Amino acid sequence: MSAYTLDWLNLLLRWIHLITGIAWIGASFYFVWLDNSLEEASAENKQKGLAGQLSSIHAGGFYEVGKYQLAPPEMPTHLHWFKWEAYSTWISGFLLLSLMFYVGANSYLIDNSKLVLQPWQAIAISLTTLIGGWLIYHLLCKSPLANNSWLLAGVLLAFITGLSWGLGQIFSARAAYLHIGALIGSCMAANVFFVIMPGQRALVAAVAAGRPPAPKHAKASKLRSVHNNYLTLPVLFLMISNHYPMTYGHPHAWAVLLAILLIGAWTRHFFNLRHKGVVRPSILVSAAIAVILLAWAMAPAPLPAVDADQALVSDQQALSIVQQHCSSCHSAAPHDEMFTVAPAGVMLDTLAEIRQWAPRIRARAINSRDMPFMNKTEMSDAERATLGQWLQQATP
Ligand code: HEC
Repeated sequence: MSAYTLDWLNLLLRWIHLITGIAWIGASFYFVWLDNSLEEASAENKQKGLAGQLSSIHAGGFYEVGKYQLAPPEMPTHLHWFKWEAYSTWISGFLLLSLMFYVGANSYLIDNSKLVLQPWQAIAISLTTLIGGWLIYHLLCKSPLANNSWLLAGVLLAFITGLSWGLGQIFSARAAYLHIGALIGSCMAANVFFVIMPGQRALVAAVAAGRPPAPKHAKASKLRSVHNNYLTLPVLFLMISNHYPMTYGHPHAWAVLLAILLIGAWTRHFFNLRHKGVVRPSILVSAAIAVILLAWAMAPAPLPAVDADQALVSDQQALSIVQQHCSSCHSAAPHDEMFTVAPAGVMLDTLAEIRQWAPRIRARAINSRDMPFMNKTEMSDAERATLGQWLQQATP
């Protein structure tokens, strides 16, 4: 397949994934909000078997929603289930992952400076991570550990952190992060498919047969729903992390991931409480302070200042480093076999262009070392230091 066709497939899958993801998380946010915001049912509604009620207005219409104590006396003919949002998000996400990291394994997944792998080996590790990760999560949730939800959360967090460190030793830094996101997203979708939906089917069957539903389903579904709820913000971060090499490319990327996971879940907690009428601004304030502290702790060490009497790096030297290490991709006429159009529109053919992109070059090739892409052109640390020094001279 040509690079051009692959790009189109990538665009379409990413677009679909984004749309379905918005539908899934949107519906999920709505129902969490709805459940937390219900008022006690009026006397009249209680007689109909309702426990909670809620009125709202949206786009020019009034809505009246009621939640049954258990179930309606008669099964409605049209019952909406809200499951395809989750399934289609997972399917489009898995196809996109396959296209980028399996079809493009040599470019995006394998980092030969960490571990030399054949594409099939790297793909096998990736699939094992996703399937094995879900199985471990699923079994932990079914184990006695689940009786203590805090202990379970702690063990799961330790597992994710350990896995993130482990994958960082095997895959390219961005692939390692994306796999944690893919695993968490897969667990969320599998929670819907393997636990929440069967629970709902059992509930419907019990109500139809006039028996009381078995409480075990409700308990299992509740646990998985709570996990899905708190994981929404972290998983969204992981999906956009690709754009921020300062996170996945950090020497302690696993610790950064742990911190962002906690901050995301903590922020979600604010909204969960708020829906119930409990407003705790201290949660948002502490989350914001945590982000600032994290940014401060992660900051790259500043480059040594250039002394006036120190030999200056000549323009020619800088240009030749960039031509040698960047221009195979970042050029009006790239000659890389994979990137046939200048990535992100960044062309570095002339000194003027290099000056224009100076802040981003500093961010990507000096402060974090995630350019050249996968260090494909084998740029040395000495060359980075020289280029960094020139950038400081040229654009102080
Ligand atoms: C093998 C191809 C390749 C080489 C070589 C390469 N890059 Fe990139 N570059 C990419 C790709 C792909 C992207 C877009 C994806 C991304 O942003 O990670 C990109 C994006 C960028 C961006 C724009 C994104 C932003 O953060 O604003 C900058 C700047 C950049 N590269 C700088 C460099 C520099 C400097 C070098 C040389 C030291 C270099 N690149 C070498 C492939 C390459």
